[in-house]
Parts: sequence; C-alpha cells; structure tokens
Amino acid sequence: MSATGSPSTPRVLPAGGSLSGRVTVPGDKSISHRSLLFGAIAEGTTTIEGLLPAEDPLSTAACLRAMGVAISPITPGATVTVQGVGLEGLQEPSVILDCGNSGTSMRLMLGLLAGRSGRHFILDGDASLRRRPMRRVGQPLSAMGAEVRGRDSGNLAPLAVQGRQLKGTVIGTPVASAQVKSALLLAALTADGPTTVIEPAQSRDHSERMLRAFGADLEVDGEMGRHITVRPGANLRGQSVVVPGDISSAAFWLVAGSLVPGADLTIENVGLNPTRTGILEVLEQMQARIEVLNRRDVAGEPVGDLRVRQAPLQPFAFGESIMPRLVDEVPILSVAACFCAGESRISGASELRVKETDRLAVMARQLRAMGADIDEHEDGMTIRGGRPLQGTALDSETDHRVAMSLAVAAMLASGDSTLARSEAAAVSYPTFWDDLARLRS
Ligand code: S3P
Repeated sequence: MSATGSPSTPRVLPAGGSLSGRVTVPGDKSISHRSLLFGAIAEGTTTIEGLLPAEDPLSTAACLRAMGVAISPITPGATVTVQGVGLEGLQEPSVILDCGNSGTSMRLMLGLLAGRSGRHFILDGDASLRRRPMRRVGQPLSAMGAEVRGRDSGNLAPLAVQGRQLKGTVIGTPVASAQVKSALLLAALTADGPTTVIEPAQSRDHSERMLRAFGADLEVDGEMGRHITVRPGANLRGQSVVVPGDISSAAFWLVAGSLVPGADLTIENVGLNPTRTGILEVLEQMQARIEVLNRRDVAGEPVGDLRVRQAPLQPFAFGESIMPRLVDEVPILSVAACFCAGESRISGASELRVKETDRLAVMARQLRAMGADIDEHEDGMTIRGGRPLQGTALDSETDHRVAMSLAVAAMLASGDSTLARSEAAAVSYPTFWDDLARLRS
C-alpha cells in the first residue's frame, strides 16, 4: 500500500521542545533514481551505496524489475546491486509499469523507453501522478520521433509508449526541469545521431555527471551548462555509485535548526551539488547560522556536513532565477517565512503547482489554518511573518514535503497539532518521524 494511499490516524505533533544532535539524512532521491536507471542499461554490475530506501526509488526499481533487470533488495543500509542488461536489453513488460507517486520515475522512464524499438510499454501512477503534466516530456520526445499516447492528448497518465528508433536532433526543453532534460538524454543514447538538449535555465545536473561516469559520450557547453550534447554509440559500463544525503531532506533540519529555540544540529554527509544549494543561499540571506564542515568530493558529487544553530532570521525574497536550485525547498521556506518578522516574497514558483500537490495552494491553506498571514499568487506567495501560529488539525494532503514542512511549523506553534496523512513522508524520507523524535529534547 502506498504511504500516500490509505487514510490513517492523524499523528499528534506536540508543540515546543528543542532539537540537538547529529543526523544522517537518507540518500539523495534524484541520484538514487538515476543510479538504478543507468545501472539497468549499463553492461555489467552496478553497486549502489547509500541508495534511498523510500517509496519513490522503489517505484523505479519495480518498473526496471518488470523489464527483466535483477536488482538486489533495497533495504536500509544495504549496498544494492543492479545487473545491467545493456542499452537494448530491457524486455517488454507483461504488466503495467507502476510509477506510484514518483514523477521522476515516470518522466525518466518515458525517455528511456521511447527508443526501445518494437516494444510496447504502459506507465501509470497514483492519483497525484495521474494529474501531473507529461506533455513536457512527450512533446520534445516526439521531435525525436517518439510515440507517446495518453489522456488529454498525451499529457496525462496512464501513458502508452510504442518504442521506435529515434532521430538525433536539437531540442529546446519547455521548462527548466531536470526530469525533462534527463528523459531526453536517456532517449538520445540510442538515437540515430547526436542530440543537443538546450535548457531555458540550468536544472540539477546529476544525470550529466553520472552518465559521463558510466561512459556516455556527453558534452556540456554554453553559458551555465545549458547545451548538452549526447553522441550515441558508447556503451555504458556498470559503476560503483555512492549516493550522498539528500539536501532536500536536510532542508527540514536546516530550517528547524535555525528556528527552534536553543537548537544545535549537525547533518552529516549532505550532497552540495551547486545546482541544488539554493536553500543555503536563501538561509544565508536570512542570516541563518549554518557552517559547512568537512567539504569533500564523493563519487563525482560535492558533499559536506552542515551544522546549524538557532539564530534570529530576516525575511527573504527570491524569484525565478534561483527556482531550479531550490524547487523542492519552497514548502519548508514558506514555513521559515512565517517565523521571521516582516514580509517575505516567493515568486517565479508556478512549477510548484504541478508537483505531488499544488504546493503553493496546499502550504497557504495549511499554514493559514494555523493563523499565518499569507497571500497566494499565481506564481508564489507573500508571507507576513512574526505573528504566533496556533497548533491545529493539519493535513499533508498526501504530499511528503508538505508533511515534513508542517511538522516543523507544528513544533514552533503554541499548542499541539495533529497531522493527517503524515505517512506521506515515506515517499522521500521514511525515517523522518523517528529522526524527529530522537533529535528532540
Ligand atoms: C527531480 C527534479 C525536480 C524535482 C524532483 C526531482 C529530478 O523536478 O522537483 O523532486 O530528480 O530530476 P523538475 O525537474 O520537474 O523540476
């Protein structure tokens, strides 16, 4: 049963208390998906250390297993092995490929499968994923000759993919989305000639880094790495991947540690890829007290430990230019804004409306229920912070990042809260509630 599926008893979230100690957040979700996917189409064995053992990567693994890829059990702490079948080795599945709640699984899978000539695939997901736009992948893929069909003229899952020999071409992506870009890079691996993907702004570059490490012929140029060219023909070779901790999961502790009275937290082994560190820039703008310790490089990704202590925070403003580097951190930043005196402004965030939920609407609704003063705009929100929030009956509305953001808000409120559908956290951070209980003092 999906963690976002069935109703459960609301979780009690007591107000007050402090946070201290060390925490290791689970593996990066984006890197985890990619290590499974690239391992599957490589030749030989890929070993993955630190793979995120959460529902989203499990969806990717289940789809790959349904196409004949042997993947060892994904359990906490396990080193996972993927027996690669090579670029042409994926079998036509006899079942519908269930991507669960995971947009990354569905979008990357579309790119991977569109070029599997002569094979047919059906992809589906949960109620949230069935509402999310897929044309942003299907349309540029169709410029390569792909055939993707679905409801709303191919925009909505369930989707059917008829694999074909794809054409190499030059494609501009309609949004700065790493999911769209990565789908096209995967499709390009077996096109009949080079493909250049041009992004409107740089999105996270884990695919580029990892595809290169697996042996793909991939070149990045242009300002800010926005032109990515893949030349087909190179076989991918299995690798040893080490997945760093997810900065998008660390974000909850960074904000909680900055706000909770007396907090002092160290978050170990956090991925610090510059295409993901927008949250650190905004927290710096807010004058948060964060130190990056022990910076190092692990398997091609920058990593460090982050120490955060409570400090008086200033309001912030950010817009479209930073959005790709903190897109998943907007919900927790909206919580941060409620607790610093003055007006904070988030703009250029309309992508938030097509995430697991409409995160602008859901965060505004839930925080307002606690008494927050928020104006919602089409592309963001204005938050007048500094007034106390009251504990109340909250609801994640099935969204993992909303669940964890509200947990932080509830701790800082006066009076206890309850959180319906708190189990959604397991989509990206299965041990979140245990970590919260342990760090709390
Ligand atoms: C992801 C990219 C982002 C992000 C998502 C994971 C990825 O989505 O929100 O959680 O792994 O490529 P977009 O690329 O659609 O912005």
